[in-house]
Formats: sequence, structure tokens, C-alpha cells
Amino acid sequence: MKRTVTKAIFPVAGLGTRFLPATKSVPKEIMTLVDRPLIQYAIDEARAAGIKEFIFVTSRGKSALEDYFDDSPILEQELRKKKKLDLLEELKRTTMDSGQIAYIRQHRAKGLGHAVACARRMIHNEPFAVILPDDVIAAETSCLAQMIEAYAETGGSMVAAMEVAPDRTSSYGILDVDSTDSQTSRVRGMVEKPEAGTAPSNLAVIGRYILSPKVMKHLTGLGAGAGGEIQLTDAIAREIDGDGVYGFRFEGQRYDCGSKAGFLQATVAFGLARPDLRDELSAFLSDLSLSGT
Ligand code: G1P
Repeated sequence: MKRTVTKAIFPVAGLGTRFLPATKSVPKEIMTLVDRPLIQYAIDEARAAGIKEFIFVTSRGKSALEDYFDDSPILEQELRKKKKLDLLEELKRTTMDSGQIAYIRQHRAKGLGHAVACARRMIHNEPFAVILPDDVIAAETSCLAQMIEAYAETGGSMVAAMEVAPDRTSSYGILDVDSTDSQTSRVRGMVEKPEAGTAPSNLAVIGRYILSPKVMKHLTGLGAGAGGEIQLTDAIAREIDGDGVYGFRFEGQRYDCGSKAGFLQATVAFGLARPDLRDELSAFLSDLSLSGT
């Protein structure tokens, strides 16, 4: 089995109800961290890992996402005329060659596993990545690139993993692994959103996956799991006794941008990481903490 990974699926069909009313008219993935939409961080990470084909699983109301990746000749012309070359350069990050990007509709919200399965006809018999844009990961080497390197050694399927607080395990896919300290560990069991007190560990799956095409096959015909939804975790678990599943403890800081608190934390952290904003923002934050607001 070839181990080069060139296709990535981005499930972006969710309604984003946690961010209502903003998400009434703006797709969650277009909400901005500093000045880039969430989806741009996911695309940058995928590109840095060598991904060449970007497959978006969308739903009704997500057309702003499709427009975002279009060329914008009028805007570009205007920026060129005004000699705003840095902005022009920034715009280039958002463009995709025709044929590099595909949109598939998930007609009904039946869960993450179902969303991924909607892309099955585009995957054929090759491994593929899945990126959940809600999980934003700041890292020196992109998280997916770290995983692709590790995957070249292991094959099978691989999920990003990180320890979470024990009272948060019921919000994640949770792994049972055979080694508690190595960066890559073989998975012995995995369960989606275990009930409080039943989790096999506090090692959680984070939204980066490299999956064997067999996982697509397992998804076809898979019944509903946790929360009455078709779960990606359940399909991956079927590979534990097949070609193997590995948990990869990535290096980097993960922000849960599916939650308001996580989104705010990411906004502050990414703002502080920007040379043009750092001084003003950190002065503001220290004033704020001094005044005890
Ligand atoms: C999804 C997955 C879950 C994983 C999580 C990571 O859950 O189903 O296994 O731990 O992403 O963010 P969701 O957050 O979509 O409910």
C-alpha cells in the first residue's frame, strides 16, 4: 500500500449552533482568528504537509466557503493599482487551482462518519487525511506533516492524540493504547464520547487523521453510534485488528475553536504571535489584568 498522502477531506457541513447568532448567515469556518478564517489555518496546515487535493464536505448555507477559494480579479486589480502588494500576497494563500478543490454536499446531518463517507468516490484505493477545522493547532512543523512522517513508518491508520482533563473525556473519541509515553502508540481500543467514569484513559482523539481506504469501506453500512450519529471513531476502530491504528501525540498547541472559550484563547494567542499586533495587545491585556476586569 502506497504511503503518500495527497488527499484531505474537510468536513464542514456542521451548523455551528454554538456560535449563533453569528452562524445564522456566516459559516463557522469563515469566522476569523485575527484576520484569517478558521478554514485558512486548516488549508495552510494541509499544504505544509504536502496535500494536493482538498475535498470539502459541505451543506446548505455554506456558499461563502466556496466563494472564499475563488479567484477575485476585481479585488486583485484594485490592490495592484494601489500597490498594496503585501495584501495581494496574502490573497494568494486563498486561491486554489481549478481541479484541486472539490465540494460534496452532505444532504442530511448524520454525523462525522457519514460526512467523511460522502467523499468515498473521490478517495479510491489510497490513504487519505481528514482535518477538522475546529481543532486549530499551532506548531512549528504542521501537525499533519508530523503525522505523515510517523505514518511512513507505521502504515495502517493514525489519529492525532492528546491528554485531556478526566472530566472532559465524554466530549472526545478516547484511546486505549499500549504505551503511555511514546509519541506513536498502537491503539488497542477506541470509543466515541464514553460516558463519565467509563473512559479507558484520558488520551483523546484530536481532529487530524490519516486513514486507510479500508476505513471508507467500514463506514459504508455502519450503524449509528454515540449520540445516534454515524461515528468516524467506530469505523477506525474496526482497523485495530486489521492493518492497525496508531495514536500520535503531536507537538504543538491545540485550540478547540468549536467552543467559545477556545476560540477566544486562540484569538489572543494568535494575536500575540503576530509581530504587528503583539505590543499593543499585550499592553492591553496587562492593563486589563491590573485593573482586575
Ligand atoms: C469529533 C470526533 C471525536 C474527536 C473530536 C476532536 O467530535 O467525533 O472523536 O475527539 O472531534 O475534536 P466532535 O467535536 O465533532 O463532537
